[in-house]
Amino acid sequence: MQRRDNPYTPGAGRKPPYLAGRDEDLEDFASLVEVLSGGGADRSLIYYGLRGVGKTVLLMELDILASEAGWATTDVQEVGSRPDFWATFAQMASRLLREMSRTHRIKERIDRALGVVKAFSLLTPGGVQLKLDVDAVTGMADSGDPEQDLVELLREIGESARAAGSGALFLIDEMHNLDSPSLAAVCMAFQAVSRDALPVALVGAGPPDLQVRLMRAKPYADRLFEYRELGRLSDSAARIALIQPAATLGVRYHEDAARAVVEMAAGYPYFLQEYGRELWNAAEAPSVTMADVEEVGDLVKEQLARTFYATRFAMASDAEQRYLAAMASLGSPPYSSVEVARAWGAENQRQTSPHRDSLIQKGLIWSPRRGCVDFTVPLFAEYLLEHHPTGEFDDA
Ligand SMILES: Nc1ncnc2c1ncn2[C@@H]1O[C@H](COP(=O)(O)OP(=O)(O)OP(=O)(O)O)[C@@H](O)[C@H]1O
Ligand SMILES: [Mg+2]
Repeated sequence: MQRRDNPYTPGAGRKPPYLAGRDEDLEDFASLVEVLSGGGADRSLIYYGLRGVGKTVLLMELDILASEAGWATTDVQEVGSRPDFWATFAQMASRLLREMSRTHRIKERIDRALGVVKAFSLLTPGGVQLKLDVDAVTGMADSGDPEQDLVELLREIGESARAAGSGALFLIDEMHNLDSPSLAAVCMAFQAVSRDALPVALVGAGPPDLQVRLMRAKPYADRLFEYRELGRLSDSAARIALIQPAATLGVRYHEDAARAVVEMAAGYPYFLQEYGRELWNAAEAPSVTMADVEEVGDLVKEQLARTFYATRFAMASDAEQRYLAAMASLGSPPYSSVEVARAWGAENQRQTSPHRDSLIQKGLIWSPRRGCVDFTVPLFAEYLLEHHPTGEFDDA
């Protein structure tokens, strides 16, 4: 088949030709928008999940839904690894307000709110980055206390949105990059707008420990947001994700071929896209057969080993690599830190805890509960068992 027609989208944040298995999420979000638009209150959403399960593309889809409902959105904003609180929220706020002013005729109200954003943005260390053609409104959102200021900023946005008969949606990707005081401020601010039933919502996304981070920042964060795990696709959803993009272009998957790929990809959207792309390039006839799968299967696996896994493995120091291998050697997750230390060859857990902490810091593993660890990357254990078994480290 022609490579240029290849419909598959392996990568990060690339909108798939068919968004499989997320209908319920889309429906729930649509009803959240409806409730808030109607003057009601409901909890904002936090999505967490492993690398490559489709958090970013789901946020992109919710962005479209909200826009169709007449809401202003920040677009999906990825929080960088060294975010500045004031700059981050000033940018999102001004984006929302500008969007509202384009579509709704309440210029005075919006200009005032932009003035508040300006005062807020002046707190950015090193000066203002935003060009706002309004005077700063002082005495609001400019105290220097992130919690108080973000509450006031969000109220300003919420009231502008209400006046415009619209709503405002924050889409914050890689939200775990916000430090604890910033997450605490986010909790406070969304609690405040929710109490006032203002049409402002947040959809945040990040790795599996995002919920724990939020709760560490504010103990009541567990009740403040609706937490959703974004997990692997069911077999039937995975099947559709694989065969539907080809089918719309007149290419059919043989039943055994589809079944084999669904099994190899283990329900992970990113892997499905990788297999789909290579199969498309390899298949001859207007159908994808088991022979194609046999030809391409190992190639994709090798490719994933090199790009998806080896690059992450290389982020770890020698001792940390040994720690990862020790985790994988223990069978099914979550892995007890005590047992990992033993498999690592440590005399006690204290000896390995700096490695564990550093791996958590690097985002390669996380702690689902006290004394336990797990990988943040799907099927990492399988990769390690095959490519870096514990024996490899014995003489190190
Ligand atoms: N529901 C889905 N159906 C089909 N393909 C999908 C689906 N969700 C995501 N994908 C595909 O999976 C890949 C990963 O998606 P995405 O970048 O959104 O994952 P992510 O969870 O944000 O990963 P990361 O944690 O690394 O940021 C992309 O190639 C995307 O096209
Ligand atoms: Mg992402």
